[in-house]
Amino acid sequence: MSANSTPENPQEKSYPQRLCAVDDIPTGGAKGFQLDKFNSIFAVRKEGELYLYRNRCPHARLELNWMPDRFLDRSRDYIMCAAHGALFQIDSGKCISGPCPGTQLSPVAHTIVDGQLYLNEDPSKDRT
Ligand code: FES
Repeated sequence: MSANSTPENPQEKSYPQRLCAVDDIPTGGAKGFQLDKFNSIFAVRKEGELYLYRNRCPHARLELNWMPDRFLDRSRDYIMCAAHGALFQIDSGKCISGPCPGTQLSPVAHTIVDGQLYLNEDPSKDRT
């Protein structure tokens, strides 16, 4: 079972692809999207900004969350990997604590138009 939402048109592979309304992502919270069997991404809203990353920890390449839309630590100041507790800065994706310090989450190109969040390209092309 997937721990993330699916985009509204999961079969559609043309880009930009609409993911959701920005307001569907809680301020100070996060939302995951299952793009296909092997690829998921997540968005974090903080202080009026929105950040989108691949849901893949640089430590062991596992998905970061173990529950739907749970990507932040208790303080909601950092992205947290549920597997081994790595903490990542929300704005840069850089790991600041845990087993992979100095590594980084992979950012995902996106656009916001009329309050709607769009995925600009297939993030699975990024093999890093
Ligand atoms: S897989 Fe994320 S900290 Fe180990």
